[in-house]
Amino acid sequence: ADALRQTGARSNALAGRIMCSLFYEPSTRTRLSFESAMLRSGGGVIGTENAREFSSAAKGESLEDTIRVIGHYADAIVLRHYESNAAIRAAGVSRVPIISAGCGKGQHPTQALLDVYTIRQRRTDLTGLRVAMMGDLKHGRTVRSLAYLLGKYPKIELYFASPEELRLEQDIRAHFQEHGIYFREYESVEDIIDSVDVLYITRLQQGRMPDEDYARLSGSYSLNRGMAQRMKEGSIIMHPLPRVGELSTDVDTLPGAVYLNEQVESGVLVRMALLSSLLR
Ligand code: NCD
Repeated sequence: ADALRQTGARSNALAGRIMCSLFYEPSTRTRLSFESAMLRSGGGVIGTENAREFSSAAKGESLEDTIRVIGHYADAIVLRHYESNAAIRAAGVSRVPIISAGCGKGQHPTQALLDVYTIRQRRTDLTGLRVAMMGDLKHGRTVRSLAYLLGKYPKIELYFASPEELRLEQDIRAHFQEHGIYFREYESVEDIIDSVDVLYITRLQQGRMPDEDYARLSGSYSLNRGMAQRMKEGSIIMHPLPRVGELSTDVDTLPGAVYLNEQVESGVLVRMALLSSLLR
């Protein structure tokens, strides 16, 4: 990704190669940044942004059959799906690489890669970094993937802030315990905001909970400029986007806010790097 940045995010490494984006759930950044990454690498793109309605899934075709067929049209398939195990299922039958673009509430691995890459732009050494993640930790897949990836860095400290009902799932907590990764949980980010190096905020996942829960939990957490200004000098504020009210727009102009610039730019660079490492 660093090398690609030097070229202005343009290369011809994937000329003649084709990427298919197969999206069964809504997306703006992930799909368009993958497509931009492929086009910037000299390759071509085919796909559907609403595979649930516009692909043969609407006629009852299985994911497996769809994947088997697309493998004859494209050299890699970027898959977003509403089921957590979809990428694994697809990889099991695919003749070409499958890249998960986020599956159910399970994992969103390329988001984690770009998030870590973003942090590394500002902090060359992640050893001992203190990272807080706040929001809907139960239903959000970005936090799960990012926490898993950050846990591989030495002496990392992870802090999770959410209403009790939106706590991180047990499987990830068990993973931390098993691997001796330091983590603490809080109900409010206010308890830790002044001591962390990175604050990663996420939206309430409306589509993954009953309407009554959404109505009750809506507004139960947020970050505004006054709170963000309590953070240490040089700290970083991140969000995978989209935001829907939990991150006030007056935070955008703080020097640590990277979600509308560096984090977005990282998405293209990291996905270019990933595509070229898989397809070259
Ligand atoms: C995230 C996702 O789809 O999981 N969006 C993204 O890829 N940047 C986060 C979200 O939808 O809240």
